[in-house]
Amino acid sequence: MNVILLGAPGAGKGTQAEKMIEAWGIPHISTGDILRKAVAAGTPLGTQAKRYMDAGELVPDFVVIGLVKSRLQEPDAERGFILDGFPRTDAQAEALDRALEELGRSLDAVISIDVARDVIVKRLTSRRTCSSCGKIYSLIADPPADPAKCDVCGGDLYQRDDDTVETVTNRLAVYDRSTAPLVDYYRSKGLLKQIDGDRPVDEVFADVRSVVEG
Ligand code: AP5
Repeated sequence: MNVILLGAPGAGKGTQAEKMIEAWGIPHISTGDILRKAVAAGTPLGTQAKRYMDAGELVPDFVVIGLVKSRLQEPDAERGFILDGFPRTDAQAEALDRALEELGRSLDAVISIDVARDVIVKRLTSRRTCSSCGKIYSLIADPPADPAKCDVCGGDLYQRDDDTVETVTNRLAVYDRSTAPLVDYYRSKGLLKQIDGDRPVDEVFADVRSVVEG
């Protein structure tokens, strides 16, 4: 199963990806996670990416396209993949088409998770993530027992630098300008499945499951 999760920042892509990994064990390729790890490790990629991420802007296409192309060639991705946060521009979508063609692969579905803007801003400003295992929490919808610690592994929870109201506003504008047009791109290819993401996580996942399992 080769799937793209499309949707605005905070739509719930990472949350649904966690459940998809649990259900089907296919690799989760999140460009945001890859870039955040590079920032935390202080690599040249991280240094280059950080200023774009902190401003809520997109990291240049050639950087992320290179990352995804090499990740898709790793052996575990032969079983399938969940692309989360990629593609985000026309150039990335076209590069993905070419990369998959070269690998003799194709997409099975593009799942667009749709959520209203006012809901998104509340979600992102109340998101917390485990610095150790990466589990995503919501202080509103899915609060951890201790607001500073992960229920699963006891790791410290942190708030992402780009989850301030100001940066979220810019991320949403960037999404509208650069990424939203991909909805039509994939609809025209007959791959688009739209899901209402403004429901409890398990209800959203039931729809994801029916797309993936057919
Ligand atoms: P990235 O990490 O990809 O961020 P994003 O797309 O903005 O998405 P988020 O991770 O913020 O949200 P999500 O949809 O995964 O929501 P989540 O499940 O966490 O990108 C970050 C930055 O990296 C970009 O701005 C850019 O700079 C750079 N970048 C990344 N990819 C790039 C690319 N391809 N090209 C160029 N630059 C790139 O949920 C959010 C919150 O809501 C959580 O608290 C969660 O618990 C809660 N929640 C989830 N589902 C529900 C529900 N159903 N009900 C109630 N609450 C819910």
